[in-house]
Amino acid sequence: MHQRRGFSLDTRSNPGTRSSGSLLKGHRACSRVSTTFPTPGDDFSETAAVTRLGSLRSCRPSLASCQLIYRALDLFCCAGGAGMGLHRAGFDVTGVDHNDQPNYPFHFRQANALSYPLDGFDFIWASPPCQAYSIASASQRVRGKEYADLIEPIRKRLVASGIPWVIENVPGSPIRADLILCGSQFNLRVIRHRLFECSFPIFVLTPPCNHPPDPVVVVGHGTTSWARKKNGGKCHTSKEKRAAMGIQWTTREELSQAIPPAYSEFIGRQAIAALESH
Ligand SMILES: C[S@@+](CC[C@H](N)C(=O)[O-])C[C@H]1O[C@@H](n2cnc3c(N)ncnc32)[C@H](O)[C@@H]1O
Ligand SMILES: [Zn+2]
Repeated sequence: MHQRRGFSLDTRSNPGTRSSGSLLKGHRACSRVSTTFPTPGDDFSETAAVTRLGSLRSCRPSLASCQLIYRALDLFCCAGGAGMGLHRAGFDVTGVDHNDQPNYPFHFRQANALSYPLDGFDFIWASPPCQAYSIASASQRVRGKEYADLIEPIRKRLVASGIPWVIENVPGSPIRADLILCGSQFNLRVIRHRLFECSFPIFVLTPPCNHPPDPVVVVGHGTTSWARKKNGGKCHTSKEKRAAMGIQWTTREELSQAIPPAYSEFIGRQAIAALESH
């Protein structure tokens, strides 16, 4: 069994973050929502994640009556890996995707992210498709397949909005890497590097990668030959992949597009700290 070194990113104890108690202070707290926030001592096991999702689902019909302080727009949301982390950070989340996303756990609008109205939101997260830059799609690009590059147009919209924002994408994409996160920094069994361009200052010290010797590869539609090669020929089960990502509610395809919610929870808490300092 891989022994972790002592220091990892814990979304529950980062400097500048706020507890769910302070986040809901002065507002009509919804006990069902607040039970989904992590607090010191929380169990982050797979079972606990399913329980948290269950409590979230039971809350969903009455989200309108739960008054969270800040509203986040989750553009290019897919099934909500990033959205779940924003929710755990304390945002009231609305996702937008041009495809229907029946598994998205929060408010959802089927629309084009390049034209969906941005007003009324306190924070915007954007995860444009990565196929134009990712290693996983490289062979398709070599064969001449073309993928839309949506980073530049969405960045223009976000900058013009004046609302704090984050763009997330893969290494090799044309974004400024204000922060790079890896699953191993959160004690997850995925080596999943993602870059984050942030419109607000992020002052965090992150530990170095601590890659496990037996990582779980979550990519493509199932386990591609590229992924199998990367992983010494081993195919991981969907159950192992879900556990490694900290995501229980998506299909296999949705899972491969997602980021671990731990990443957006970590950044979402910095965003709330930035919002509250203004
Ligand atoms: C990389 S996935 C997002 C993954 C998500 N952040 C997560 O963590 O689960 C990109 C998504 O962008 C959506 N998409 C692509 N072009 C879009 C557009 N113009 N407007 C809205 N959604 C779009 C795709 O349908 C896909 O679901
Ligand atoms: Zn790493």
